[in-house]
Amino acid sequence: MAKKRKNKIGRNDPCPCGSGLKYKNCCLHKKGGIDLKDLYFRKYRIRLKEKADIEGIRRAGRLVVDTLHLVEREIRPGITTDYINTLVHEFTVKNHAIPAPLNYRGFPKSVCVSVNEVVCHGIPSEQVLRDGDIVNVDITSILNGYYADANQTFFVGTPGPDARKIVNVARGSLKEGMSMIYPGNTLGDIGWAIQRYAEGKGCSVVREFVGHGVGFEFHEPPEVRHYGRKGEGIPLVPGMVFTIEPMINLGGKEVSILEDRWTVVTRDGSLSAQFEQTFVVTEEGGESLTPFDL
Ligand code: MF3
Ligand code: CO
Ligand code: CO
Repeated sequence: MAKKRKNKIGRNDPCPCGSGLKYKNCCLHKKGGIDLKDLYFRKYRIRLKEKADIEGIRRAGRLVVDTLHLVEREIRPGITTDYINTLVHEFTVKNHAIPAPLNYRGFPKSVCVSVNEVVCHGIPSEQVLRDGDIVNVDITSILNGYYADANQTFFVGTPGPDARKIVNVARGSLKEGMSMIYPGNTLGDIGWAIQRYAEGKGCSVVREFVGHGVGFEFHEPPEVRHYGRKGEGIPLVPGMVFTIEPMINLGGKEVSILEDRWTVVTRDGSLSAQFEQTFVVTEEGGESLTPFDL
C-alpha cells in the first residue's frame, strides 16, 4: 500500500516558497524553512542585506548626512551650484569615500544640484543662487564599498509662499511614505500614502523617477514608486534596503529633459521639491540609515 502523504510536501513537488524549483532543490534542506534571502533574489532580484551590510550602509549614511549638514551651512544667495559640488567632492574624498554620481552613466559632477523648476539630476554649474530660490542637494557616497543616498531641499535666503508650500509638501510626502515601512506592508502602500497626501495638498507626483534598492550598488531592484495602490506590489521583509525620494511638483506632474540629457524640469515651469532617505526594513518597522530631521 502506498504511503499516505496528504499534508506532506514531496521531494519533487514545487517548493512552497514560490521559487518554481523542486522542493528537494530548494528549501527542503534549509533550516528555518523558507530562505527569504534566496526567495527575494530569485523572484525579484532583490539582495537582502545582513547585519554587517546594514552597519556598512549606516556608516556611509552618516557621512552623507554630515555632508548635507555641511552644505546647509553654506547655502546663501550669491554662491554657485558648482561651489556646492566642490564642497561635497572635497568633504567626501577627505573622509575616504567616493562620490557615486561622478562619471555614473556619464554624469560629469559629484553631486546633483537642482534649483526651482529643476526636478532632479541638475548638473552643478556657474549658476548663482538668488534670494527666494529653492535648491535640492542629492548626495550619494560609497564608503568601504557600501552606498547610501539622501537629499534635502533648502531655502536660499527668504522663501516666498510657493517655495514654502512645495518644500513642506515634499517633506511631508517623505514622512508619509516612511510611516508605511513595516514588514508585511507592501511597496504599493508606500506609493499610495505619498500620492494620497501630495495630491490632497493640490500638488502632483512625478512618475518617471522612483526610489530604488541601494547599498551594494547605486541603483538596485526594486523600484519604489511614489504613487500606487494600497496592498499592491512586493511585500516588505526585514533586510530590504531602499530609498524613498518623492519628487513633488506645485503644478502638473509632467517633466521634460533638457539638451544636456540629464537636467529634468517640470514641463509647466512650476516649482519642484524633493527629500530622500535610505531605509532598512527591520523586524519592528523601518529605520533610516541616513537620518535627518524632517
Ligand atoms: N541620487 C540620485 C538618486 O536619488 C541619482 C543621481 S544619478 C546621477 O537616485 F548620475 F545623476 F548622479
Ligand atoms: Co539621491
Ligand atoms: Co536615490
